[in-house]
Amino acid sequence: MQSIFKEMLNELDKMLKGYRYYTMERTHARQVMDYGIILSERENSDMDIVVPATIFHDVGRYIGLPNHREVDFDTLSSILKKFRYADNQIHSVQGCIRTHSINSKQKPSTIEQKVVFDSDNLTLITPFGTTRWFFMAEEWGGVTNIKDAIENLAAIYQKIDEKEFFYTDTARKIANKNTFFRTYIEDLTQEVNKFKL
Ligand SMILES: [Fe+2]
Repeated sequence: MQSIFKEMLNELDKMLKGYRYYTMERTHARQVMDYGIILSERENSDMDIVVPATIFHDVGRYIGLPNHREVDFDTLSSILKKFRYADNQIHSVQGCIRTHSINSKQKPSTIEQKVVFDSDNLTLITPFGTTRWFFMAEEWGGVTNIKDAIENLAAIYQKIDEKEFFYTDTARKIANKNTFFRTYIEDLTQEVNKFKL
């Protein structure tokens, strides 16, 4: 990994210190960044935009924004100027963050935006991403009933299983090979039904 990206991770660490979900969010950012690097290499996107966008894509949560996707230019600039980023690069990173979520109003259009969207959403179908999703279900969606949480996650998994969900071929291939998420909901539902939770 390039040393500048390691320094960006250190910067994220500093921002996350004191945040209640520090270790979980640090792991999440690392996981998204790893997918970002893989996808960037295969999709020929600009890693100098994709990597900071993946590392800082959820920064809005840590600073308490009501909509975590809408990180303002000044906040991003105060981070990325330390790495000598030009204004146009910061705008590109901001665009990736704005479009990274399933719930983003604006959909990804550039290859960098598509790669960041796919990287974040690929983490949803991993064991860690699933655990994080359940952990945050109440805070993100007000869901406190385990059955509702399972149903909500099943609906997201169903969407992801549809071929149209991801923007890049590389992400589609990675998702196709992922057997975890296709059996997880079924196994979980069987277990829950067995104990009549
Ligand atoms: Fe995320």
